[in-house]
Amino acid sequence: MLVRLVFALIVLFGAIQATAPNCDAIPTSMWCSNKDIEKACGFTQQCDKHRAATHNQKINITVLIEALCPDCQNFLTKQLYPVVFKNFGDFVNIELVPFGNAKIQEDGTIKCQHGEEECSINKFEGCFIDSMADQSPLPTLSCIEESIQKKVEFADAVQQCFEKLQIGGDIQRLTQSCLVSKLGADLQTKAAATTNNVWPEQHKFVPWVVVNGVSLTSLQGFQNQLPTLLCEWYSGDKPIPYCETALKMKYKKASIRHFF
Ligand SMILES: *[C@@H]1O[C@H](CO)[C@@H](O)[C@H](O)[C@H]1NC(C)=O
Repeated sequence: MLVRLVFALIVLFGAIQATAPNCDAIPTSMWCSNKDIEKACGFTQQCDKHRAATHNQKINITVLIEALCPDCQNFLTKQLYPVVFKNFGDFVNIELVPFGNAKIQEDGTIKCQHGEEECSINKFEGCFIDSMADQSPLPTLSCIEESIQKKVEFADAVQQCFEKLQIGGDIQRLTQSCLVSKLGADLQTKAAATTNNVWPEQHKFVPWVVVNGVSLTSLQGFQNQLPTLLCEWYSGDKPIPYCETALKMKYKKASIRHFF
């Protein structure tokens, strides 16, 4: 009898040991992933606040770019437009800030990393973004950057991409008048301010991704894993098809490995 009681106590103790979480060691990204963790570790209040602020909210992605940096071109044409925009379009706001590593000099002129041409294309992009208002400039700018990568002259690239993406005459006229007016310069000044005021860490290179207003060097290593991060960060009633599909494929693969 006593042996059985001791045995039962050992089993019970073992079970308690096994279920008591070491809260200090739980990776922070998992803190709000499960109600039991939240309750056991005292995260509930902060997690509820986090959920209230993010539930069904689009995730803001701000990207600092400049027109002629090869890494920016690759990021735009191979990742941001074809993967992020196309799969997460309804769940993210993507803001492009075309200034990058340019500098405003003492006389007020702008010096760009890849020279004069980059400055004028940055300015064009600023004007085009502004002229598109609430339509996304990303498909068109990705098209233009892809053409520039293929050594198409900038003016031809613009013409071809405007045609391909059916950019109307009104937008074209707005962009043109912005370019030749003070607005074009003002938008560059504004892009410079946005670039230089990212918080809490300054950009060290381009492209540079800022998420919900937070700029971190450590995040930049995951620029090409944005889909995975977005699937984890998003919380909403409407599931993201891309994330559902990725998870289903994972399950399928895992169960195949397990059962056969
Ligand atoms: C995203 O940006 C919009 C517009 O600037 C802002 O109103 C909203 O609060 C931002 N969302 C988050 C989660 O930061």
